[in-house]
Amino acid sequence: MTTNHKHTHAQWGSRLGFVLAAVGSAVGLGNIWKFPYMIGQNGGSAFVLTYLLCLIAVGFPILVAEWLIGRRGQKNPIAAMKAAAEDNLQPKVWSLVGASGVLAAFLILSFYSVIGGWALNYILQSGAGAFHGISGEAAGQVFTSLLANPAELLIWHTLFMMLTVAIVALGVAGGLERAAKVLMPLLGICLFVLVGYGFVNGAMAQTLDYLFSPNWSKINQRVVLDAMGQAFFTLSLGMGIMMSYGSYLGKEVNLLRTAGIVILMDTLIAIAAGLAIFPIVFANGLETNAGPSLIFITLPIAFGHISGGAILGVLFFILLTFAAITSAMSLMEPVVEFLEEKTRLNRAMSTLTSGVAIWALGVAALLSFNAWSQVSLFGLNIFDFLDKLTSNFMLPLTGLATIVFLGWFMRQQSIKHELGLSGVWWMAWQLVVKIIAPLAVVLVFAGQLGWLDDIWQWIASL
Ligand code: TRP
Repeated sequence: MTTNHKHTHAQWGSRLGFVLAAVGSAVGLGNIWKFPYMIGQNGGSAFVLTYLLCLIAVGFPILVAEWLIGRRGQKNPIAAMKAAAEDNLQPKVWSLVGASGVLAAFLILSFYSVIGGWALNYILQSGAGAFHGISGEAAGQVFTSLLANPAELLIWHTLFMMLTVAIVALGVAGGLERAAKVLMPLLGICLFVLVGYGFVNGAMAQTLDYLFSPNWSKINQRVVLDAMGQAFFTLSLGMGIMMSYGSYLGKEVNLLRTAGIVILMDTLIAIAAGLAIFPIVFANGLETNAGPSLIFITLPIAFGHISGGAILGVLFFILLTFAAITSAMSLMEPVVEFLEEKTRLNRAMSTLTSGVAIWALGVAALLSFNAWSQVSLFGLNIFDFLDKLTSNFMLPLTGLATIVFLGWFMRQQSIKHELGLSGVWWMAWQLVVKIIAPLAVVLVFAGQLGWLDDIWQWIASL
């Protein structure tokens, strides 16, 4: 999506085009790399089920809210929020909601590109037959030695960032989006082949149990916060990205149904990734809580043992890189747009400048796997800090502001009309938007800050 907001304001040719672009932003490393490892770090089904709940109760209404405000504003997120505020006789400070998204985008893309680099490296390694007949232990070593090598990581991170910058700067995103129509389904097929491998050779029964039979005892505040953060991250929410996508959306499109479709596709891909990875983890006695390295250790085992696995591996990591690039483009967009509007740089120069700045921060992120592994911020290394700060705090806070604005500060009648809701459905919508979604976010934060315990003690002391 690179049509310049300032000049022409194009509209999506078809609803399908829009759905694909939204899915292109949503489906990325978050689904295939991050979701499985978060499951592994947060006790399996406790995380999966909380996550699904967050998608429905929080992700869905905020996705609709971003689209609705963006479609009305027909501008970039900051301007759209400002326009919506003026329309509803509210102060302009609401446009800060759009502004905080720019910063979040900047921070997210820096570490996102490092992982994109890992995917690029794995295209090469699969192609070179590095995984042939590999054992779990050897797969771990391949990855550990990549992480331990800053120069190597730097090359791949740089390459990923250059690819993203080139695509955004050249404005060839249109072509990429057309390619996405073929490549995204192909990624889905690849994943299902891997799920099939898990059924035949892996511990599928154990996986299904691990992912879906409720183990509420594993639930704690961190699990809930991570699940909520992941819901925001995977749907590309809380950054105004979906708002700017919404600004290209025609009036006739049904927002609720379209949100349902996008969330369903995104979730199917994420669950498929989980079903592909955990059978291999259990069958090979690997650690579920390997963290960010999880898919890079497990999938090579599958590729190393299927016939034609090297080719499948190359294909899979190409598609993963592709999915990462379509998401990275959407992360780059707000930063570039911001520079373009606030400075005198043109589009190409804005892209290059933001690219270099994001790249530099990415270098700090990649060093946290080796040279700077001891550097810690709030007990986290730089990489984890960037991830948690954005996913678990910045995105939910911005999302909270968006939904509170929509629910409490916008005229409700016109929203009712625009969404085509009536009767109980409208009441349900209002309940979710005004109470459930904001309350959920606030409670998760309160839990994190330890306030819930205080309140609980206070109640108990009465
Ligand atoms: N949703 C993408 C993923 O799952 C990442 C992403 C793209 C994103 N744009 C975003 C996350 C905007 C937060 C905000 O990989």
